[in-house]
Amino acid sequence: MRAAAVFPTERRLAVVEDFPEPKIARPTDVKLRILSVGVCGTDREIASFVYGTPPEGYDYLVLGHEALGEVVETGSEAAGLFAPGDLGIPMVRIPCSDPNCAACRADRQDHCETLQYREHGIMRLHGFMTEYVVVDAKFLAPVPRALGRDAVLVEPMTIAEKAFIQVDHIAARLPWKSQRRAVVVGAGPVGLLGAMALRLRGYEVVVYSLERAPNPASGIVEAVGGRYVSSQDESTEQFAAKEGPFDLVYEAAGAPTAAFEVLKSMGPNGIFVLTGVPGRHGNVEFDTHGIMLNMVLKNQCLLGTVNAGRDAFDLAVADLMKIQSQWPGVLDRIVTGRHKLENFAEPVLRPTGIKNVVDL
Ligand code: BGC
Repeated sequence: MRAAAVFPTERRLAVVEDFPEPKIARPTDVKLRILSVGVCGTDREIASFVYGTPPEGYDYLVLGHEALGEVVETGSEAAGLFAPGDLGIPMVRIPCSDPNCAACRADRQDHCETLQYREHGIMRLHGFMTEYVVVDAKFLAPVPRALGRDAVLVEPMTIAEKAFIQVDHIAARLPWKSQRRAVVVGAGPVGLLGAMALRLRGYEVVVYSLERAPNPASGIVEAVGGRYVSSQDESTEQFAAKEGPFDLVYEAAGAPTAAFEVLKSMGPNGIFVLTGVPGRHGNVEFDTHGIMLNMVLKNQCLLGTVNAGRDAFDLAVADLMKIQSQWPGVLDRIVTGRHKLENFAEPVLRPTGIKNVVDL
């Protein structure tokens, strides 16, 4: 069967034509026919050979970690959970094997302590940009048919869901205060989905991003009742003076300079969430004294978050369903490009629009 792969030592991308079709091997296995796979910045980093590791024994890594699949077969134990025809989202991260990793042993590999986890399509495990995959039922989140092809947005949505689960824990330290004002930095898919999740939670949302409005992303922000400001129209200082102070900053651009500029302008008791994996570029200088002073004197909290647990997958499905009914059609506007497997290199290396998807 065909699989979209990155060959890091040869520095090339290619469709492997004879990638072996996986078989059900254990009673808990589920075999999926892959329908669609989203492409993100992590894929681009892998395809530029600066990130990602092939599985042991392979000179290539099959790409793809934002997948939607249809169940075609189940092992005997998985049969009670999934049936052929069901839709599911395979989880990205698989636990490490260290018996002392409390997080992985508690099925919270998104908090793995040894960093020996594996990630499909990213780290030491083949990804989902291929025709069939076999995963353990434990790592497959069910999706109702009603979500339709927007379900390919579940994985990027889990980033926001995991973040907001943790924000709720942190915000519990201020029982007298309701979190109200949020700024989302970056208007890519993670930023837009984060903005929608925040709107569902009743936040006032401003998205601060590079491109000037009007543009497709600013239209989406406005459609869900948020506001959009371009950093070309307002510097971070002007923006912060006008819009701040913020209770919550959701950084989804992976741009350290913009992130720390906005951090400087966060309000008292603010929570700053970093979700964007920065590209591997050179160093930037910051006023660390000012940042530290603010963080201490204003009780601020800086939170990094990566990957997601099963709770976030279930919440992502539920929230995407709510978004579909509250703002019909808006999720479709995020997926701006659909591509064939043989052309996967195009959206991976030269993405245009907001979110590109490879349809199998
Ligand atoms: C994925 C996460 C993954 C992270 C780091 C992101 O693109 O969505 O699941 O943990 O990359 O590899």
